[in-house]
Amino acid sequence: MEDSKLALLFTGFLLPVLVASVGINYGQIANNLPSPEHVVPLVKAIGATRVKLYDADPKVLKAFANTGVEFIVGLGNEYLSKMTDPANAQAWVKANVQCYLPATKITSIAVGNEVLTFNDTSLSGCLLPAMQSVHTALVNLKLDSQVTVTTAHSVAILQSSYPPSTGAFRQDLKGCIAPILDFLSKTCSPFLINAYPFFAYKADPKQVSLDFVLFQPNAGIVDPGTKLHYDNMLFAQIDAVYAALSSLGYKKLPVQISETGWPSKGDEDEIGASPENAKKYNGNLLKLINQKKGTPARPNSDLNIFVFAMFNENMKPGPTSERNYGLFKPDGTPSYGLGFSGIAVSSGNSTSTGSGSSSSSSSSGTNGPSIYLSPPANSSSGYLAISSSTERFAWSTWAMLGMGFMSMAAY
Ligand SMILES: *[C@@H]1O[C@H](CO)[C@@H](O)[C@H](O)[C@H]1NC(C)=O
Ligand SMILES: *[C@@H]1O[C@H](CO)[C@@H](O)[C@H](O)[C@H]1NC(C)=O
Ligand SMILES: *[C@@H]1O[C@H](CO)[C@@H](O)[C@H](O)[C@H]1NC(C)=O
Repeated sequence: MEDSKLALLFTGFLLPVLVASVGINYGQIANNLPSPEHVVPLVKAIGATRVKLYDADPKVLKAFANTGVEFIVGLGNEYLSKMTDPANAQAWVKANVQCYLPATKITSIAVGNEVLTFNDTSLSGCLLPAMQSVHTALVNLKLDSQVTVTTAHSVAILQSSYPPSTGAFRQDLKGCIAPILDFLSKTCSPFLINAYPFFAYKADPKQVSLDFVLFQPNAGIVDPGTKLHYDNMLFAQIDAVYAALSSLGYKKLPVQISETGWPSKGDEDEIGASPENAKKYNGNLLKLINQKKGTPARPNSDLNIFVFAMFNENMKPGPTSERNYGLFKPDGTPSYGLGFSGIAVSSGNSTSTGSGSSSSSSSSGTNGPSIYLSPPANSSSGYLAISSSTERFAWSTWAMLGMGFMSMAAY
């Protein structure tokens, strides 16, 4: 990378976001994203310690070597049938995972994205065999203790989700889901779910309270089955997943929210897609994550959440919202008022790596979303608001970014 292209411009004070341990989805269905080296400081700026990819882009995995950032790499739906062959799976793991370890901390492989809700039985039939082959490859390569194998589901695998205690999987999918849960349980792997309260709101803005979906103050609902009180939809959705897992006997399976977020822009009929709402959703979500509390049904389980997404992705098909979930615009500036000002980067012209699973799932309306943020930029009070547990991290992020700025400003 030539220094002239590096040209990182600092557009103001970089304020670290208040983050305990947040993850971010790094989708790349775009032709205007900065190169991965430029993305490293942005990931640090938002305080993310975990990144989820939809592929195993070598440029990204190399750029993040020795950064300490943990990765979930993805194996797209289009590879599932090929991966049912253990030899193919082993070759893939060698070339896409093993070669980056240990410098790049790949901790998990997400095999397929929202496979079961495509209702494609031949694709669904490949899912567990592909996961098993990939796991076997990890065992053969002695990597299974550090890399787990899982798959991300849409909340649409639930037949019922409200009230949360009635959560249950779609009847027609149970036969397929149960053996996957067994696999996850035996291999100590997490259950991943993509959850977008935005879609619930968009589908029925008259009935669904905007405050309830945006984590704003509201009366909430009481689950008549448990008497637990819910004041936001995401927690209700997560607890519905726990209930569904419990009903099949997998009460202890850890759940991670592999995607959630809110678009800053949408088509006319996409009620609710706006910078103001995106900022509220993601900002309030981050605050919740920082409180290190769980959901009403699982108060002692940390929320393990990957925000969707790092960037607006201009080549994603579907409604306008699909291209506007990013925390950042392609030039590295925040999509809306975040608590930090971002870094303007010259266009790296990094081309799309064609996260196939991601684009295909967007057509089903569930891949995607975006952001979060911190309190308004006020460089003097920003740190004071940070809880003691995160203060140190925030400061070190700040120091690192400040130094990065100094050295880059020389160009
Ligand atoms: C898949 O099947 C379910 C249950 O029959 C249905 O509700 C859903 O709309 C279908 N989804 C797609 C993408 O066809
Ligand atoms: C990026 O790509 C566009 C269109 O292909 C080109 O015009 C532009 O010069 C490129 N920018 C850089 C920095 O390479
Ligand atoms: C920042 O905080 C100081 C002290 O609380 C206040 O006086 C100032 O108006 C704030 N600035 C902004 C931009 O909010």
